Amino acid sequence: MGYNIAIDGPSGAGKSSLSRAAAEEIGFMYIDTGALYRTIGLYVYRNKISAEDESAVASALSDININIKFVDGCQHVFLNGSDVSEDIRIHEVSDYTSKVSAFACVREFLLRTQRELAEKYDVIMDGRDIGSVVLPDAELKIYLTASAEERAKRRFDELAAKGQDVKYETVLHDVIERDFRDMNRKTAPLKVADGAVVVDTTGNTFKQSLKELTDIIKEKLK
Ligand code: DC
Repeated sequence: MGYNIAIDGPSGAGKSSLSRAAAEEIGFMYIDTGALYRTIGLYVYRNKISAEDESAVASALSDININIKFVDGCQHVFLNGSDVSEDIRIHEVSDYTSKVSAFACVREFLLRTQRELAEKYDVIMDGRDIGSVVLPDAELKIYLTASAEERAKRRFDELAAKGQDVKYETVLHDVIERDFRDMNRKTAPLKVADGAVVVDTTGNTFKQSLKELTDIIKEKLK
């Protein structure tokens, strides 16, 4: 059984970059569960399936095979044999993913993969319902958040750096809409899990947030 650290929180709070850096510092495996959901979002988007049609998405699941491999400690995700680690990051896929991840069939489909990884390795696993549903017995649970404006600014800078042409207002609107969907869905909504430590990174530099996070983790590991 691995040692499990669950990190949940809304999009753009810095979960993945902070979790990855913290995992490297303490020698744990970093698991980005958003990438698993995004792979389903990508499949639905590519195959022109309506992301609002639960039964169409449910039947598509039988055609989806997702694999995770670690290359130099970095998680790569494979959809039916192809590495889609880059493709899952495009803006349209974020929107599709937020919609399909609300379906119970999708969450059920990915539950086993996530639990198997946590059983096999010492992990920092990040997502939306890791502490509340996937790993309710995790040794440490953290809820990482920041203001919507700051999260939108970070996402906007990320997309701009990749040469994607989007407006800040569009990104902010999408962040607020996605938060609402993630927090209000019936199945496994985003919330602070019982016993989770809340870390708000608004106004912090990356270094400050990382120190705050690793201090909490190291204290727990003592
Ligand atoms: O963390 P991210 O932005 O890559 O996540 C993409 C979408 O997937 C987001 O809308 C929420 C959803 N998601 C989820 O519902 N549960 C998870 N454990 C991880 C992500």
